Amino acid sequence: MSLQEQELQTVWWDNGAVCLIDQRVLPHQRQVVSCQTLNDVAQAIKTMQVRGAPAIGCTAAYGMALVAHHSQASTVSILLDELVQAKAYLDAQRPTAVNLAWATERMLRCAHQYVERPSGVTTEPPRTVQLAACLLTEAHAILAEDLAMCHAIGDHGASLIPERGHVLTHCNAGGLATAGYGTALAPIRTAHSQGRPLHVYVDETRPFLQGARLTAWELQQAGIAQTLITDNMAGYLMQRGEIDCVIVGADRIVANGDVANKIGTYTLAVLAHAHQIPFYVAAPSSTIDLTLATGDEIPIEERAASEVTHFAGQLVAPVGVAAAHPAFDVTPHTLISAIITEQGVITPPFAIGLRENVRRKP
Ligand code: MRU
Repeated sequence: MSLQEQELQTVWWDNGAVCLIDQRVLPHQRQVVSCQTLNDVAQAIKTMQVRGAPAIGCTAAYGMALVAHHSQASTVSILLDELVQAKAYLDAQRPTAVNLAWATERMLRCAHQYVERPSGVTTEPPRTVQLAACLLTEAHAILAEDLAMCHAIGDHGASLIPERGHVLTHCNAGGLATAGYGTALAPIRTAHSQGRPLHVYVDETRPFLQGARLTAWELQQAGIAQTLITDNMAGYLMQRGEIDCVIVGADRIVANGDVANKIGTYTLAVLAHAHQIPFYVAAPSSTIDLTLATGDEIPIEERAASEVTHFAGQLVAPVGVAAAHPAFDVTPHTLISAIITEQGVITPPFAIGLRENVRRKP
């Protein structure tokens, strides 16, 4: 398939390789990264050639399928050991977004289920090859389900956007951050497709500029009205009554409703609360982690200080200055008006709604 046909697809399988749109060079360059090995996939996740919680989950699922596809293992039990190691390696690349470990866990479960099934009479193709095929099917299913969940989030969330509303979003929780369509951008896209006039303020999202480079580009492609702002302008706009609601994505939602998302999200939630502006979180069920009770337990990824001291590859701070780079923060559930999942809109108390959401999951 040509690059043009693939341009909005985040991740796909191509004949024994995991392919990605390189999100480090968008929007001015369209480059496809072709991952041939587990290490290639891990590096693509670590260096954020692919990023966004659901997208790294889908990529890691294909990474597990890739391991099985190229494995020289002589038995399924040896292959299972390789998959366990691959999961640990992939999970370690980015610790905050739970979708990564969720997807590798699901792949491992699929492998175990295959191994536990009676082997039958056919020995051809070898069971390791059959297992590899089974895992590829599972990775395709994870991708397809993610896309469907994003569309459902759009259906449930669109009505929360006020008529002629001005929506603020942070980071990129669009098609590029998922299998397609997005999470925070899904209600916006759906409202727009219903012909409802709306306008989006896009936080540039320092230091990686997911807002300026990716969200602004996606909204432009979709023909949705937008204004790009630097992160420190949100308070001013809220004070002037120019923002009607905030919608962000999530990297992990824990049992009490606390949410980890891109650094700067908490600041926006505090500002929204102070100005009595609704603050919405949109995420698929794969982002919900009921094993953690509160946001204090969420591991926060620390990234290289050089991503802060440099802008577009150019050093902007004094040589040798110390810089901090927590890549995510945690927004307490008390600052969140509602959580939009593919199953509907969850309102406080979140602990009950989230448990019910997970219980209903097929
Ligand atoms: O560091 P990133 O770009 O992977 O962070 C992405 C975010 O914080 C998104 O808001 C989140 O993953 C939700 S994406 C649908």
